[in-house]
Amino acid sequence: MRVLSGVQPSGRLHIGNYFGAIRQFVELQRDPSNECFYFIANLHAMTTVHDGSTLKENTQMLAVDFLALGLDPKRSVLYRQSDIPEVTELSWLLSTVTPMGLLQRCHSYKDKVAKGLSPNHGLFAYPVLMAADILIVRADKVPVGKDQKQHLEVTRDVAAAFNHEYGEEVLKLPEEMILPEVAVVPGIDGRKMSKSYGNTLDIFAPEAELKKRVMSIVTDSTPVEEPKPIRGNTLYQLLKLFTPKEEWREVRTWFTQGGTGYGKMKQHLLGLILEYFKEARAKREELMGDLGYVERVLQEGAARARAVVAEVMADCRRVCGLR
Ligand code: ADP
Ligand code: TRP
Repeated sequence: MRVLSGVQPSGRLHIGNYFGAIRQFVELQRDPSNECFYFIANLHAMTTVHDGSTLKENTQMLAVDFLALGLDPKRSVLYRQSDIPEVTELSWLLSTVTPMGLLQRCHSYKDKVAKGLSPNHGLFAYPVLMAADILIVRADKVPVGKDQKQHLEVTRDVAAAFNHEYGEEVLKLPEEMILPEVAVVPGIDGRKMSKSYGNTLDIFAPEAELKKRVMSIVTDSTPVEEPKPIRGNTLYQLLKLFTPKEEWREVRTWFTQGGTGYGKMKQHLLGLILEYFKEARAKREELMGDLGYVERVLQEGAARARAVVAEVMADCRRVCGLR
């Protein structure tokens, strides 16, 4: 099975990114029958980041984070989107068969417009570029968070339109892969954890900063001695995410039986998060001292990806009459 996914280098990685995406990337590469492609979507980030040095630094940091969190260049192809220029070429071919209405209906675009952002064409065309990322390697499965489901639908629609238009099954229709139980990780204010809401718990934040953030998770005013609500309780959801299975029964009683305050629960959560990412945090420190290695990984990954991409592009150019 061919697996592909990308992450935008638009800031620091948070635990929503980890549980919604990267953890699955790491698990998928363990199965030797999977051929995994993971990339840094720096061209997508350009729809919002217009500072060259920031983009460059964020891209490098994300590569470090990928490796620290366990993506293995021996098992997966890791690359930078912009190192595969064929992606933007395919994006154009696809855009000529993509109905405007399809893009106008996309939440990613509509939400930003609704927030008053004046959209550039890149933001509007964003799902077409994403379709190109996926279709250019003929991916079977795309592990992503729930918020990307619509983009996968668009990808299939665009691929089907291209195949239909040119009368040949050149492009493969991919499927999304979404883990339902962690589909949306809540942020410290209870909304979906997202960089754009400023409610994140960042995986590699310094310990003191992480502590401050965990302590500010929004809770209700239930007195210590009383049982705490479970439904819609952010702290409950986050504890559930990090508590080892065999300890969950006990931690759950903190809510159902009362007697445990939110402050103690937050302290406990902080300890769990630090323990969970201990190895990754150490690995990250190590990689920061060898950025040359990180760059080599990306360049080797791009060379491997381009070999696959070349075949698909040859077919696409042929059916379109470009060559
Ligand atoms: P953000 O919303 O912080 O900007 P991105 O859009 O860069 O995050 O998301 C990168 C990946 O992480 C995507 O696959 C996305 O679906 C996933 N993801 C982001 N936030 C969450 C969350 N709160 N819960 C689950 N998955 C998430
Ligand atoms: N749009 C995705 C996000 O914001 C990132 C992305 C770009 C992607 N291209 C992709 C994800 C291709 C999966 C496959 O999270």
